[in-house]
Amino acid sequence: MTTSVIGKPLPRVDGRAKVTGGARYAADFNQPGQVYAVIVSATVGLGRIAGIDSAMAESMPGIIAVITHQNAPRLPYGEHKSYIDPAVGERLHVLQDDRVRFYGQPVAIVVADTPDRAERAASALEVVYEAERPTVDPSDPTVTPIVPEAAAGHADTSRGDADGRLAGAPVKIDQIYEIARENHNPMEPHATIAAWSGDRLTLWSKSQFVVNEQAEIAAIFGIPAGNVQVICPFIGGAFGTSLRTWPHVTLAAMAARQTGRAVKLVLTRKQMFFTTGHRPRTLQRVALGATADGKLTSLLHEGSGETSRYEQFTEALTSASGYMYSCPNVRTQYRLRQLDIGTPNHMRGPGEASGIFALECALDELSYVLGLDPVELRRRNEPEIDESENKPFSSRSLMKCYELAAGHFGWSRRAPEPRSMRDGRLLIGMGMASATYPAYHAPSSARVRLLPDGTAEVAVAASDMGPGTYTSMTQVAAETLGLPMDQVRFSLGSSDFPPAPSHGGSWTMASVGSAIRAACIAVQEKAARQAVADQRLPVFGAALDAIEWTDGRLRRPGDLSAGQSYGEVVSSLGAPIEAEASSQRDKDAAERYSMHSFGAVFVEVAVDPDVGTIRVRRAVGAYGIGRVVNPRLAASQCTGGMIGGIGMALMERTVLDPRDGRPVNAHMADYLVPVNLDIPRLEAYFVEEVDPHVNPLGVKGLGEIALVGMAPAVANAVFHATGKRVRTLPIRIEDVL
Ligand code: MOS
Repeated sequence: MTTSVIGKPLPRVDGRAKVTGGARYAADFNQPGQVYAVIVSATVGLGRIAGIDSAMAESMPGIIAVITHQNAPRLPYGEHKSYIDPAVGERLHVLQDDRVRFYGQPVAIVVADTPDRAERAASALEVVYEAERPTVDPSDPTVTPIVPEAAAGHADTSRGDADGRLAGAPVKIDQIYEIARENHNPMEPHATIAAWSGDRLTLWSKSQFVVNEQAEIAAIFGIPAGNVQVICPFIGGAFGTSLRTWPHVTLAAMAARQTGRAVKLVLTRKQMFFTTGHRPRTLQRVALGATADGKLTSLLHEGSGETSRYEQFTEALTSASGYMYSCPNVRTQYRLRQLDIGTPNHMRGPGEASGIFALECALDELSYVLGLDPVELRRRNEPEIDESENKPFSSRSLMKCYELAAGHFGWSRRAPEPRSMRDGRLLIGMGMASATYPAYHAPSSARVRLLPDGTAEVAVAASDMGPGTYTSMTQVAAETLGLPMDQVRFSLGSSDFPPAPSHGGSWTMASVGSAIRAACIAVQEKAARQAVADQRLPVFGAALDAIEWTDGRLRRPGDLSAGQSYGEVVSSLGAPIEAEASSQRDKDAAERYSMHSFGAVFVEVAVDPDVGTIRVRRAVGAYGIGRVVNPRLAASQCTGGMIGGIGMALMERTVLDPRDGRPVNAHMADYLVPVNLDIPRLEAYFVEEVDPHVNPLGVKGLGEIALVGMAPAVANAVFHATGKRVRTLPIRIEDVL
């Protein structure tokens, strides 16, 4: 397809709103008569509530309600589970019993006329616990790894004889890799404003999945989904933390119903460290066997992630090891370690980001044992097909990614010997890693309406947490309809709109974009059908296959007149024309092809040999992601992902106190994230790639993949700089001294 709008580096259509305060986030939708709720969080890590004395809190000025498990309504908690919830287990039921399952679990909610008064009363609430010592360390010897029940069929995979071939391999490495617990820490905290009108509930709520929040809250309260509307037009970053609907949404709705007032509830930064998911801590073993000339003969990848006692959160930790490289003998194993913690969830390249760290570091280690360039080692193991599924890739441009990124980076200037490159007294290291992420395509719907003024309105219950969904979707609609960008108004973020999948998994462009394209084609067909039946229009009486929409005008092919615009057709017909359509993955194509994005990232670090500080000096990534809808926004997404990867590699780590499970660094002063001074020049390039199999738009998805290879590339660069192999993230000063 030749395009005029898709593929253009257009600026964000919502950019002005975002920088002028015009964009409204969940907590901005203040309601008349609104009151404020504050959650009281458990200060023990396990046990039960022995007693609550709320007399003092209730007597304080402005207090409207103190709700605890003793007086909270028993909620129906009807069955609701979407793919975003762990398949095994049951969500936390809030304020329904006296159990404390993890540190920070909500144990009460205090409602007052001002936020300050609610906060003061919340801290005056006396909660007495019978506390037990929680188990919060996955490597605790009492923790027995379990096979995830839902993944029982694919938690273990095997082809050939990986263990046997490893034993006899001429060259091998066999190592353990560990990644810390991390929290998403978006700028915008979780926030919900809840307002009931009779048995109808409106939620202005930070969510990456408004239709799921609608269905879940309806099920929890035992009301029809149609009685709940969830509104969220803007998200101030999320990284996966708003994929699920966490207990604070239920609590806001509960408080609003109990008080008969609109209730605003905003989580504190601290509360975002224990009730809204996190990247699970992982322990992984990767073992590689190879011939002396660098051909992999054996690959073992055993990994485990932590989860809560009440839900089994799973992610694709070891999957990529099955298809990244060619190897006849591969065994993967995935386990869970159940702890007294809140349930983890998807965070920034979930699964692959952690798994690829171990695999790509192991490959780097192998390259030194072999005395081979790390890129060359990967080239020698490039597979022709996906050997785990035994089918071809829909597209795979990893070799081109190496070439493109290595060229821009200047990889050829790298001296192979560790600790051999210097800039003054600083040790310089260059490292690289491959990246991959699945090219998903989830079912989505979309609605398009053509108006008499010639403009089009497009609506989908999608979300935009920052990648530029508003803009890229407007591009797809403008392209398909043949309208200029400013003639298309795209709306998202309301559960009243046609359903979209969760805004995550790098699948929004493929899924929602394909649905919008289908809806645009459907509305064109509908308009044409009505036009040929309208005597006032020149196309009256024409056969449908004898007319077409070109550049937003309806005419017979070869007709040299201007034809009729959407506005003229709609005006003549006298009413807007609307169509809704859906899109989902072509099952046949999915059967035949393995669909993934691939990429490569090259990083330069400088390490101070005396004080051990590690600085990323530059990074260059190249990605094969199918069609790039907006190169400017795509590059911006990539640099965002790389920054997340720098955080994962060098800074981010949530530390739990083993005595009570308390996150000891639950604030932005001690939970380190990269700031401007930590971010050097980052470059992202895209290889030309046409993938006719993934979806009608040919997009494979972007976002997660830019984070995936970054941490191993940094770790590999740190080894090259210092000669110290650090297998635990984040890498700290003391690790390289
Ligand atoms: Mo992303 S972790 O799928 O929001």
